Amino acid sequence: MTQKWQQQIDENLGAWDAIAAMHARGSGAQFYRIQQFLDGECRLSPWEIEELGDVSGKSLLHLQCHIGVDTLCWARRGATVTGLDFSSAAIAEAELFAQQLNIQDASFVVSTIANACQTLSDSKYDIIYTGRGALCWLPDLDAWAGTCASLLKPGGTLYLEEVHPMLSLMEVVPDSDPPVLQPTYQPFSDQPTSDETSGSYADPDADTGLHAYHMWEHSFADIITPLIAQGFQIELLQERAEGFFNPFADMMEAVSPHHWKFKESFIPIPMSFTLKARYDGA
Ligand SMILES: C[S@@+](CC[C@H](N)C(=O)[O-])C[C@H]1O[C@@H](n2cnc3c(N)ncnc32)[C@H](O)[C@@H]1O
Repeated sequence: MTQKWQQQIDENLGAWDAIAAMHARGSGAQFYRIQQFLDGECRLSPWEIEELGDVSGKSLLHLQCHIGVDTLCWARRGATVTGLDFSSAAIAEAELFAQQLNIQDASFVVSTIANACQTLSDSKYDIIYTGRGALCWLPDLDAWAGTCASLLKPGGTLYLEEVHPMLSLMEVVPDSDPPVLQPTYQPFSDQPTSDETSGSYADPDADTGLHAYHMWEHSFADIITPLIAQGFQIELLQERAEGFFNPFADMMEAVSPHHWKFKESFIPIPMSFTLKARYDGA
């Protein structure tokens, strides 16, 4: 199916290449709290650390690692990490951070998810970590689940934190005051939502030039059913009021440097979820 969407994936690659340096070293670095990260701050959510458990001495593959900040946070907790992303610009920034922090147990590779098994020469890992705005860039979660199964050792763990499917359907009604959310994106379509923009969620005003992007909405069934079909056992599914980005600025308040929640005057919808699944082998 991926070939069907090759043009869209190529355009997404152009968009991610265009914003990587801005996230790592430009105006988006404030959103990513790069200086604080370089000074030792952990960007992982506290529940990720608790739910995934001790990673020390384990091999951890971070799929769609972007500029490697979260990957290197796992390395700081003792994992031997490999970050994979199709953006060579993002991987270059990740490698610079690893050098700058003198983190030895980290390597980074440029690859699409579709080619990940080939790129990694069918290596097997104890843990696959992904998410925080990753799955929406993949049109084919059947293929993604197969890739995750192929790259895990028997007894290995897949762990992810993602945007809640309900949140990803919503937009604020234009000019509504107080702001009102309405479902805006199609939940039952395999067509992507496509647009053209400059900047990014980290800095919408950044002058990165116009780039097209394409995102796919995924329901819980879209994510979980392919994992079950590959033999994964779902060990944990947790929905949260906290999100890891701030999509509706007038409705949200910061509850930590990395998390936002609906203000008390609004009835909240779930912002994010975590999922942990065990793979016992084919
Ligand atoms: C929002 S980032 C998620 C990473 C991380 N949570 C973060 O916020 O830094 C999404 C990443 O997915 C990568 N990506 C998108 N489509 C991909 C694909 N088909 N294969 C590999 N990487 C892809 C992009 O390059 C980008 O770095």
